[in-house]
Amino acid sequence: MCDRKSIVTIDGPSGGGKSTVSRALAARLGFTYLDTGAMYRAVAYTCQQQGVDPLNPVQLEPLLASIRIELLPPAAGEDDVRVIVNGRDVGSSLRTPEMGMLASKVSAQPLVRNILTVLQQQIGAAGQIVAEGRDTGTVVFPEAAWKFFLDASPEVRTRRRAAQLRSKGEAVDEQQLLAQIVQRDKDDRERTIAPLKAAPDAILIDSTVCPVDVVIGQMYDRVMTTPCSCKK
Ligand code: DC
Repeated sequence: MCDRKSIVTIDGPSGGGKSTVSRALAARLGFTYLDTGAMYRAVAYTCQQQGVDPLNPVQLEPLLASIRIELLPPAAGEDDVRVIVNGRDVGSSLRTPEMGMLASKVSAQPLVRNILTVLQQQIGAAGQIVAEGRDTGTVVFPEAAWKFFLDASPEVRTRRRAAQLRSKGEAVDEQQLLAQIVQRDKDDRERTIAPLKAAPDAILIDSTVCPVDVVIGQMYDRVMTTPCSCKK
């Protein structure tokens, strides 16, 4: 490994397999996994709980000034990172499609992005991190040594997300889920601040027909065989 910060970024639209891939790649490399989407979901959840309109800066500012977000490794037998908000484990409340939509809305607010971006950069300051999200390669860690953009067709992403939700015992309407995924991606791509897009130096991977294990292998090989691709 090189002597610069070892940071891997994995960006892409929802349901493209980013979480599974990022978690597995981090474990294989011995790096920390940083789920930036969980932080936007945590802010969205807190807005909902406190009856705060995320589009109203007068209401949003005090919430952001007092919020404490901690990410902990998943509990035994669980996949998702544990998210502690203001001292309370908010767990699976964050992982619903509705909370994804609200997180997307919240994430378009500059006040929110400024705070979370700094927090993410602090977590990544020591390096040895695999960060996943929408802007980790473009805005949060533009200096990252390895950047990937993971995409798949909306239909395949919907099927994967539906399987994930069903495995947690939730009922899923696939047509509705597809519509939500398409809308959320459009909103994330079209917002003015830190939109969802591939960094110019990211490697694009389409996982539509590519099994997750193969994607992880491709990324791992890339990291191991190009250890000095750091930006000067
Ligand atoms: O990855 P996710 O589905 O948990 O993300 C939820 C929302 O949070 C996503 O629709 C947009 C926002 N987000 C963002 O704007 N920037 C990130 N780096 C990560 C997530």
